[in-house]
Amino acid sequence: MAKKALIVYGTRYGATQSTSEEIAKVLQGEGLEIKVVNAKKEKVKDIAPYDLVIVGSGMQMGKWTGEPETFLKQFQKELGNKQVAIFVSSAAQALIEYEKKTEEIENNRKQYLEQKAAKYNLHPISMVILGGVWDFNKMNLLLRKTLASFKPRIEAAGFKEIEPGLYDTRDWNAIRTWAKELATRAG
Ligand SMILES: Cc1cc2nc3c(=O)[nH]c(=O)nc-3n(C[C@H](O)[C@H](O)[C@H](O)COP(=O)(O)O)c2cc1C
Repeated sequence: MAKKALIVYGTRYGATQSTSEEIAKVLQGEGLEIKVVNAKKEKVKDIAPYDLVIVGSGMQMGKWTGEPETFLKQFQKELGNKQVAIFVSSAAQALIEYEKKTEEIENNRKQYLEQKAAKYNLHPISMVILGGVWDFNKMNLLLRKTLASFKPRIEAAGFKEIEPGLYDTRDWNAIRTWAKELATRAG
């Protein structure tokens, strides 16, 4: 029987949605049955049918979106008996990697992933920080002004606007490779 997987995600700017869909496509290709849930739009009522639960969140000011965290809290006990994986979307990750900010990279891994897993007593089979988007069109004026200083860093790291005000720092091959390895680990 096909292994069943659930992806539950929360997004503010859309990156975690399209990343979740790509992960789902890869897992499907590896023979898993997948359900993808936008936790802002749909409440998961039961995780009993799933063997693997993947939780994804966008990052903002060092914080997860609220809904996937609520999901972790709500299903903490059941998740303890399942295979769990966690990913976050961080548009800053590619910049700090390019800038070789080793300490920040380590701190983010701890803060975004390891501390979150520990908070809910989870032992994920895989955790990863994936890229994200800078969508200046979706920011309010204050944010747009504050984050304008990021533009030179984004450009220096080799990212070009894919449309006015929109940069995508995701490495789709890295996303697909992570999903494929996750399928292997999940067995
Ligand atoms: C106001 C603001 C704050 C952000 N703070 C962080 C941050 O603390 N760490 C980080 O890695 N990325 C940060 N980012 C970049 C986001 O990770 C990126 O926009 C990502 O795509 C968010 O996921 P989402 O598109 O699914 O909402 C920030 C972006 C904005 C607009």
